[in-house]
Amino acid sequence: MSEDHFKKVIAHAKEYGFIFPSSEIYDGLGAVYDYGQCGSELKNNIKQFWWSAMVRLNENIVGIDSAIFMHPTIWKASGHVDAFNDPLIDNKDSKKRYRADVLIEEFREKINQKIGKEIEKAAKKFGDAFDETQFRQTNPNVLRNQEKIDELTARFVKALENSDMAELRNIIVENEIVCPISGTSNWTDVRQFNLMFETKLGSVSEDAASIFLRPETAQGIFVNYLNVQKTGRMKIPFGIAQIGKAFRNEIVARQFIFRMREFEQMEMQFFVRPGSEMEWFAYWKDKRLTWHKALGLGEQNYRYHDHDKLAHYANAATDIEFNFPFGFKELEGIHSRTDFDLSQHQNFSGKKIQYFDPEMNESYVPYVVETSIGLDRTFLAILSTSYKEEQLENDTRIVLSIPPALAPIKAAILPLLKKDGLPEIARQIMKTLSVDFNCQYEEKDTIGKRYRRQDAIGTPFCITVDHQTIEDQTVTLRERDSMKQERIHIEKLGSVIDNKVNMNKLLASLI
Ligand code: GAP
Repeated sequence: MSEDHFKKVIAHAKEYGFIFPSSEIYDGLGAVYDYGQCGSELKNNIKQFWWSAMVRLNENIVGIDSAIFMHPTIWKASGHVDAFNDPLIDNKDSKKRYRADVLIEEFREKINQKIGKEIEKAAKKFGDAFDETQFRQTNPNVLRNQEKIDELTARFVKALENSDMAELRNIIVENEIVCPISGTSNWTDVRQFNLMFETKLGSVSEDAASIFLRPETAQGIFVNYLNVQKTGRMKIPFGIAQIGKAFRNEIVARQFIFRMREFEQMEMQFFVRPGSEMEWFAYWKDKRLTWHKALGLGEQNYRYHDHDKLAHYANAATDIEFNFPFGFKELEGIHSRTDFDLSQHQNFSGKKIQYFDPEMNESYVPYVVETSIGLDRTFLAILSTSYKEEQLENDTRIVLSIPPALAPIKAAILPLLKKDGLPEIARQIMKTLSVDFNCQYEEKDTIGKRYRRQDAIGTPFCITVDHQTIEDQTVTLRERDSMKQERIHIEKLGSVIDNKVNMNKLLASLI
């Protein structure tokens, strides 16, 4: 996928009611977006697929919906007040601001891509006889580049661990990493920047308390651990899931809905016995990748990426990365958070947060394995992979091959003409099908144009009502991806559509 492809996806998303820039009539607001009539349907369907996979398919996982505003001490306890920082650096010539860690990571990825190209070339040359492991161990170019990566990584991780901003700058300067806009390495110092938004709670400013907009939904789960465990009589291991808004004052937010200042997370905290966390970490890594792959966006588009530097709360962490139009980037994080959060809340609140394990006959603070996926990033993964420009015999078409179960509209009902009783029959079909599916009725323009409009929003089926319908109650059913048309009886429509769009089929593939 290319930059050009990405631009087209963004333009398409706006033109067809998926995503609009926020406050557009006031020239927009940086890195904030609104979801339109098609976008909000797709988003709701993604949420439903995630929620059902978590809460419905796992008898030991329940869901909650906690408030965005929380007691300010929560963010002190969680470490966000002191440590939720990004290192930022400015280029003095372009006046553009960057995350220092991202500049270094992108530089490292470029070296990695050089290795990839070398391997690809050799694989073509040697065919079946090619042994990648041996090639990696012996090819001088690969070895030299791998050594560069290893050295860079060791230095980078150390700098992050020590919060050594001067060293981060040295790495950038010494490796001649330049600003992509100005092409120069005229950099400022690196500074730490806290990402939380602060606001006031209360009406009179002197009395008002400073609070934060939550930068993750997870803390709403931790502070409700006791409530849910007791009222739900939950036994360890068990999980609490939540979908909700999170807010981060991102320094660099230039990739459409990939990095927003207001976004949605779908998080699940799984509470386990201390010592069993690595087993559960491996379990959830596998489970989550299976969930992603069930969407059918292409298995080659996913990969794991183990963290070089662990967050202050974690003893293991992996990202599931997706091949976005701008390369492989984080889509979901899976973290083993130890007992850090619950212990911190225990200390800061003075309330005992423990679990009595009847099998072990002892009390402990549970360990936590977290799965945390960005809803907007999942949306972008689906949209950018589904967008296709197809060359037909005498025409071209733009089609969104969205997984049918997630498509905003499942079927469009189209009377061939606006007369002869065809609209009345079409409206009746619409009424019946709308009970089970999100449908759209359209009678304007030629049938060809109407098909194109439905292709462009990813509608899996178009149903055309014509004069033959009056005679034998059959309609033309057109399928989005193959464009195949078949004549079927009105009474069969429901089951044929259901067979393709029912989300339960996706869910069944997960068990
Ligand atoms: N509770 C753990 C946590 O918040 P994270 O890796 O910072 O971990 C989890 O965030 C997921 O949230 C990411 O994998 C990403 O999909 C999404 N996310 C994070 N920041 C985002 C942003 N600024 N815009 C859109 N999605 C974001």
